[in-house]
Amino acid sequence: MGKEQGGDIPHVSSYPWILLLLGAACVGEMVPILKSQTRPPRRSKSALASTHLAGQQVFASNCASCHGLDGRGGERAPDIAGTAKVQKFPDEKLFHIVGDGIPATGMPAFRTLGADKIKAVVSYLRVLQGRTPSVKLPGNPERGKLLFFGKGRCSNCHIIAGAGGFIGTDLSVYAKTRSVEEIREAITKPGKNVETHGKEKRERPVTVLMRDGQKYIGIARNEDNFSLQLQTLDGAFHFLMKSELDHIEYQPQSLMPSDYGSTLSRQELDDLISFLVSTSKSSKARQSADNGEPDP
Ligand code: HEC
Ligand code: HEC
Repeated sequence: MGKEQGGDIPHVSSYPWILLLLGAACVGEMVPILKSQTRPPRRSKSALASTHLAGQQVFASNCASCHGLDGRGGERAPDIAGTAKVQKFPDEKLFHIVGDGIPATGMPAFRTLGADKIKAVVSYLRVLQGRTPSVKLPGNPERGKLLFFGKGRCSNCHIIAGAGGFIGTDLSVYAKTRSVEEIREAITKPGKNVETHGKEKRERPVTVLMRDGQKYIGIARNEDNFSLQLQTLDGAFHFLMKSELDHIEYQPQSLMPSDYGSTLSRQELDDLISFLVSTSKSSKARQSADNGEPDP
């Protein structure tokens, strides 16, 4: 990315006015959405947490050697976290499989663990499957949501579950396939992320000055020798003739601000990550993860 432009154009984080502009335009509209989506308070979170902790320990010492620490399978046993078939098993069925084993296969019986531990390991398996709000979230998703639509201004550029801006990537299911650390890097080191992302041609941020003095800042969505289609930060498309252009400047970097690592605290980043992870677990996100089908 940015090879042909060189590194001499100032990075977008030195254009704080872009953010100001965006902030003024969008933040106000988000408030009603936030209100209507607020979930009821979660019950007995600490009880849930201690069950998960117990289950995690049982899993680590009894199951991980074959199924892997994350349940995604290993040489000796299949994936029991990511497969749609196992995700659909009711709790009782899992309880019996673990207690009785699967005769004539490599799956041993764990009756000796006792009912409580088996229940705990089954509920932890649900966490690995992404079916329960995971207590392994680094932060608080509710606070992360407020940050996303408020102070962090992420929603100026990113859509989550239908709400937000169009310039950045839709992040609704982004966290589904990424680890907490990968998400943290994507937020705090966006340049790096671009390189590893694998998309050949990023749509490029540009600043355009027209002969009549009009200025546009946005993303070049389409371009040929004679024309440029530009989407400005308010979402509007502009069809510009190159003959009427005075000056066009491609930004070497993504529009994604590069200074979140310093403007947001570690706690705030954790909250944001938790928010992204929690939205990726919505039912819509889960369907796209159910790609283990059909199973024998
Ligand atoms: C010694 C290796 C081993 C250990 C330890 C082990 N498993 Fe398994 N497990 C297997 C194998 C092999 C299978 C596949 C059996 C088959 O062929 O159907 C399996 C199958 C399963 C299945 C059913 C998967 C399906 O597709 O139907 C579940 C659920 C499961 N194991 C959970 C657990 C849990 C929970 C633990 C820990 C309490 C555990 N296993 C420990 C080897 C193991
Ligand atoms: C000024 C617009 C803008 C703002 C504000 C912004 N982003 Fe971005 N973000 C982008 C763009 C554009 C990309 C695509 C990266 C690229 O160009 O390669 C991106 C990429 C990302 C990615 C990686 C997505 C991918 O497909 O690789 C994550 C995660 C992300 N942003 C999260 C956030 C979070 C969280 C915030 C708020 C703290 C935020 N962004 C604020 C514009 C923005």
